[in-house]
Amino acid sequence: MVALISPEHAKFPPHPRIKLGVMASGSGSNFEAIAQSIQDGHLNAEVQVVIYNNPGAKVVDRANRFDVPAVLLNHREFASREDLDRAIVETLKQHSVEWVIMAGWMRIVTPVLIEAFRDRILNIHPSLLPSFKGNRAVEQALEAGVKITGCTVHLVVPEVDSGEIIIQAAVPVLVDDTVEILQGRIHEQEHRIYPSAIAIAAIHATTDDNGHQS
Ligand code: GRF
Repeated sequence: MVALISPEHAKFPPHPRIKLGVMASGSGSNFEAIAQSIQDGHLNAEVQVVIYNNPGAKVVDRANRFDVPAVLLNHREFASREDLDRAIVETLKQHSVEWVIMAGWMRIVTPVLIEAFRDRILNIHPSLLPSFKGNRAVEQALEAGVKITGCTVHLVVPEVDSGEIIIQAAVPVLVDDTVEILQGRIHEQEHRIYPSAIAIAAIHATTDDNGHQS
């Protein structure tokens, strides 16, 4: 798999049009970066649906602005993680989704979703994985005193924040950084790399060992 440390080199290879389903719990700035990249003619894709789990999440306003249907699947109304994931899979299939893009989805997903879209689910995490997995990744980086952190787009596997890495971007940690300031700088890089990562992952998935696309 292609792994790039410098987002400047993250190009958009020509690739077939991809039907995306975005899962977001909150602000949705990564959804917006992806939708904007599509609108600007860089990423050859369409967001078929946004699934969100928190009523009132800001991602809904962003989805409305880009004319993307937003579907609320409130985890509080499901008896188990698996039941929620079954509803997610059904919604994604109803909208003919090919690739699932987790963009600030703050729930652990189960094999129900992972098997239904095997090797076609991406997540973005605010650290240079495998460092600082799980919650509070930016706080963890500050507490550890690292001088460089960043963000990672990776394939989703059952173990949290552990799938194959598609693209990373490095972000320096500066002396006066607070969590908010560092998070803001990481967010800027997330918005740059996520659209390219989707293109690269999709191209890779349709290319055989001899470099031929199916
Ligand atoms: C991002 O920092 C991402 O790395 C993490 O959740 C945040 C989502 O931000 N998984 P937004 O909702 O896309 O603005």
